[in-house]
Amino acid sequence: MSSTSKLGILLSGRGSNFLAIADSIANDQLKGCEIAVVISNKADAPGLAAAQERGLKAVAIEARGRKRAEHDEEIVATLRAHGVDLVCLAGYMRLLSPEFVQAFPQRILNIHPSLLPAFPGLDAQQQAFDYGVQVAGCTVHFVDEQLDHGVIVLQKTVTILEGDDAHALSERVLEQEHIAYSEAIARVVSGQYTIEGRRYIKR
Ligand code: GRF
Repeated sequence: MSSTSKLGILLSGRGSNFLAIADSIANDQLKGCEIAVVISNKADAPGLAAAQERGLKAVAIEARGRKRAEHDEEIVATLRAHGVDLVCLAGYMRLLSPEFVQAFPQRILNIHPSLLPAFPGLDAQQQAFDYGVQVAGCTVHFVDEQLDHGVIVLQKTVTILEGDDAHALSERVLEQEHIAYSEAIARVVSGQYTIEGRRYIKR
């Protein structure tokens, strides 16, 4: 990786994780990184508007009516055109094609609002709450070709409180997501790790 790591953010919605990453870079907590481009599959995503307001390169690449491989090809080309070396999925609500994953091997991160491998997929916090877990949390992991499955870089836990509901739990998990994502990016761009099987090992 170059001395400044160029991040490409993919989002579909409000983009609070993107904003947390942007804030960490702006206040120098996350060093050696810049956001090269923010891409959304939804032109009306609030996160994309927020990126524009911050003067970042913001690109909408709509998926509607297109094959996944073709849509992903355009995204990969856009990431490459901006020199991206680490892709961060931040509430990006589409599965990636194998070609996309293979274009950035161990260079795509995702954040998921559960302690994987528990509760992959949608509504993870509701799933965890309904299951009756007493400890919930979030996971930042490398993306592989299976949903919410790649090597785990970092997890943070959140304790279920008396009188909790899924909404309150989601808010506390989100607070931890905002901390976890920048920490995980810092770990990856440092290069101070190896991966053995499924295990991320800090060097
Ligand atoms: C987060 O809970 C993230 O874990 C999940 O989607 C949500 C996105 O939130 N993948 P935001 O758009 O970053 O606010």
